[in-house]
Order: sequence, then structure tokens, then C-alpha cells
Amino acid sequence: MALTTARLVAQIREEWSNFRIAMLVLGIESSCDETGVALYHAQRGLLANLLHSQFDIHAPFGGVVPELACRDHICKITPLVRRALAEGGAQLQDIDGVAYTAGPGLKGALLVGAAFGRTLAWSLGVPAIAVHHMEAHLLAPLMEGNRPPLPFIALLVSGGHTQLVKVVAVGAYEMLGESLDDAAGEAFDKVAKMLGLGYPGGPRIAALAEKGDPQRFHFPRPMTDRPGLDFSFSGLKTFALNTVSAHRPLHDQDRADIARAFEEAVVDSLLIKCRRALQGEGVSHLVIAGGVSANLRLRQRLETQLPAKIHYAPPALCVDNGAMIAYAGWQRLAAGHSEPLSIHTQARWPLTDLPPIDPA
Ligand code: KG4
Ligand code: ZN
Repeated sequence: MALTTARLVAQIREEWSNFRIAMLVLGIESSCDETGVALYHAQRGLLANLLHSQFDIHAPFGGVVPELACRDHICKITPLVRRALAEGGAQLQDIDGVAYTAGPGLKGALLVGAAFGRTLAWSLGVPAIAVHHMEAHLLAPLMEGNRPPLPFIALLVSGGHTQLVKVVAVGAYEMLGESLDDAAGEAFDKVAKMLGLGYPGGPRIAALAEKGDPQRFHFPRPMTDRPGLDFSFSGLKTFALNTVSAHRPLHDQDRADIARAFEEAVVDSLLIKCRRALQGEGVSHLVIAGGVSANLRLRQRLETQLPAKIHYAPPALCVDNGAMIAYAGWQRLAAGHSEPLSIHTQARWPLTDLPPIDPA
């Protein structure tokens, strides 16, 4: 009897919560090695955006150790939510909806944010929304109100994904091409490791490449001599390894020259496929998102060499963060989407499986 009543109360609360208009959304990101918590307000924008990075924990291992990532998320999530509320000048009771990353990502890490977020939403009697991490990256550049006209092309370049997507409407995505092996960010990280630059590699390669001679080495531009929009970066990694082996012992200038040649090759490959996608689809707006979109050379080359308007987020919103989760979650909550009481996460989750938000 008690159980039935409890279930009934939970169900009424759940259904009632769907009538509340989501003005203030708490966003929680825990898909990999960063705990991100943010508060997004429908009218006032971003009120708080806090990030705890686990770089120091994983650095000795040269990459992310999933079990250590989960444990650290558990320790950091509550203090971060408290701090976000304090910085945003809000109380728990002011939250109208909770958004959490439900995939793709490390299963255990995702479960920490999802269990916390879904439970908090239930305890507050507000709706919860499971956010697709790559959709959140894709929408982050739109947060400051600069919406490109539909349809547009999105280049998603992170540590786990390299994808070219046609955005027909927010939530309606067509996959045009993707990496057949390593993601662009993953290649940056692996080449950084070969050069002894440590983890995470992308920003370190980018900084070192500034001092490199672009004429000294020429790396291949994989899959650009054949039609199609897919990418491949594992060959570049092997090329980098062979170059490193041929020039041992490496001096600082060798490292910088290799970093420069590698970065040029990745940027060129991305640029060539973006140009093809824009031309093929007859579209003149390109959104770039994900950690690698923070790369300055990529931004500059796309801006100067493509006949399109390029949209990107400030660097802090390119890499993983809670703000993009709060913002993407707010859009779905505002459109009436929400989750049942069950907690569901997906380590793999095709972007094209999402239901649309806007009508096309
Ligand atoms: O989006 P993100 O923070 O996490 C994932 O969803 O994977 O992307 C992280 C990736 C890492 O591989 C990192 O090395 C790369 O983005 N990255 C960069 C830069 N900043 C971060 N790669 C190149 N240049 C950068 N400035
Ligand atoms: Zn990410």
C-alpha cells in the first residue's frame, strides 16, 4: 500500500513538473575527465559556469583512467552545484529543470552526473532532461544569440568525435561524414604524447606549433584525394611516429616543426571536407564546435579560406563544460521534452537518433 502511494505521489509530481516553464536550468557535465556545472537562465543567460578538470589525476597515466574519473566526479559534483548556486545568486528551489549529459561518454562517468541530476530533479519536483553531449557542443556557439540560418553545416571536432553534420533544424541532424578511425582531438593527444608534451595534447601541440617551421616537414592530407566527407587521422599518427623515430634524439626545434606540420595537416583535412560539404549542400554558414574548435589556426584558416560565415564559441565553451549542457537542456525542456524517472545513459549514442526540437 505504502509503495503504491509513494509511486502515485512520484507520478503526480513528475507530471506536474512538466507544466512548470523552464526558466532556470542546472546543467551537469560528467562524460569524461571534467566535472562541469552551470546555471542557464532563459532571459538572463549564463549565471554560473564552473569546471573542475581532472587533468592532474590522469596526467601520470598519459590518458583518462575511467575508474579514477568516476570517483573524482562523485567527489566534486555536490560542491560544484553549491558553488554554482552561490555564484548565480540562486537557491535550489529556484531551479526549474535539471539537464545532465547522458551520452556519449564513459559509462561510469555518465552515470554519476545522470544519477545526481535525475535524483535532484525528482527531489525538487522539476523535470529532468538527458542531453546528448555532441548536440550540446553543436549548440554552444549559438548560446550568445548568433543563430545561423537553417540549414547550416556543423563540424564537430572533439577528443572522441570528428563529424560533419547538416543541421536541418535544432535536433534534426543528417550525418554527412565522420572519422573512420581516430578523432581529430585524439590524434592531437597521441602525437603530443609521442613528442613528450603530456596530456591533454591539443593545446600543447597548438602552442608549440607556433614556433615551428611550416616548410620543414610535409604530412599527408588523408582521404582528401577521393570523394566523400569522411575523415581518417590514424595514418597521420603513424606518419608522426615515423618522423619522430627518424629524428631522434629530438631537439626542441624538431618537436616544434613536427607539431606545426601535424597541425597543418589536420587543419587542411578539416578545411577541405568543410569546403566540400558547404558546396555540396549549397550552404553558407558553418558552425565549428568541440575541443579542437578552440584551435586558433583552424579558426583562422576556415575564416579566411572558406566562402562561408564561421560560427564558434569562446574557447572555454569549446571544450567540455556544464554551460553547453544547461543550454541544450533548456532548449529541449522549453520544447516540452523531459525524462521519465528512470536513469538511462548511453556510452554510444548516434546524434541522428535525437528527436527534433524546432520544426524544419
Ligand atoms: O570537446 P572536448 O573537450 O572533449 C570531448 O568531448 O572529447 O575535446 C577535447 C579534445 C582533446 O583531444 C584536446 O586535445 C582537444 O580537444 N583540444 C585541442 C585544443 N584544445 C583542446 N586540439 C587542438 N587545439 C586546441 N587548441
Ligand atoms: Zn566534449
